[in-house]
Amino acid sequence: MRPYTGPADLRAMQELARRLPDPRLHPGELAWSRFQHLGREPEWRTALWEEDGRVVAWGWARPGQLDLQYDPARPELADAVLRWSDQVMPGGEREVTALDTETPLIEALRRHGYRERRDGPFFVSMRLDLADLAAPKAPDGYTLRPVRGEEDAGARAAVHRAAFSLPGHPPSRVTAESYRQVMRAWPYRAGLDWLVEAPDGTPAAFCLVWLDGGAAVLEPVGTDPAHRRRGLASAAILAALRAARDLGATTARVTARGDDGHPSARATYASLGFRAHARTLTFTHP
Ligand SMILES: CC(C)(COP(=O)(O)OP(=O)(O)OC[C@H]1O[C@@H](n2cnc3c(N)ncnc32)[C@H](O)[C@@H]1OP(=O)(O)O)[C@@H](O)C(=O)NCCC(=O)NCCS
Repeated sequence: MRPYTGPADLRAMQELARRLPDPRLHPGELAWSRFQHLGREPEWRTALWEEDGRVVAWGWARPGQLDLQYDPARPELADAVLRWSDQVMPGGEREVTALDTETPLIEALRRHGYRERRDGPFFVSMRLDLADLAAPKAPDGYTLRPVRGEEDAGARAAVHRAAFSLPGHPPSRVTAESYRQVMRAWPYRAGLDWLVEAPDGTPAAFCLVWLDGGAAVLEPVGTDPAHRRRGLASAAILAALRAARDLGATTARVTARGDDGHPSARATYASLGFRAHARTLTFTHP
């Protein structure tokens, strides 16, 4: 086991995600969650377990939250990551999120004293077969287009912040600079990052799709509150998914709140044909 030393190690962690059958965290979701903000690394501890030059497990400890992936043929690696987290996350409650389909991980968490938290928010993982995709249609006056490159990072970050500024929550920390960091990460492609612009040119909605092999993942999707319920997110999603399909994607997956706290995303994906196939369970360690 050794500590994470920089972005090359994220690439090695993504290689493990690529080898897993239908992982909860797709390589693109890993890139997004590591790079969407700047300056977070000092709060994190990340460790990699390697064999024959490749990563077979990793653990990523954030304040109060642990993520891990491991080779499913080697369930003892889950125990190794959980033991490591006991050392680097001493004291305080911590959470691990698992899909209800991840039985070996759930068993490992229970062995380590984790208990399922039955109240509180949860997420559903939703899937869509890309064989039949409707044509995207932006309302009159709105323009649908892919991101051109880093010159769009400011607009992309601004519309992200508008969509994710929720009353009662701290503002999103996504900035033009952090978005450029996302754009430089594998497997980002500007052609899978779609924007809808309002008639005055203001960015109003977006959908970023990450593609690896045949699997596309949407992360994130959003519409500025001033432009909601006009079909903008749907148009951006369909355009990004058609671009992904042209590059070989056969299925798409997205994660959305499954409880009724914030139902708009789940309703949007369901209206496009996405169906839930698993839900998250939250395990806490006292
Ligand atoms: C989820 C979100 C992207 C939807 O954007 P949008 O542009 O308003 O979505 P659309 O107009 O394309 O909605 C399409 C359909 O989804 C459903 N839908 C969308 N929002 C809904 C809501 N609040 N309640 C119920 N149904 C909703 C409806 O069926 C809608 O069609 P209709 O307006 O004809 O009834 C937007 O609400 C948002 O940015 N939310 C905050 C950020 C977020 O949660 N992002 C997703 C997680 S990454």
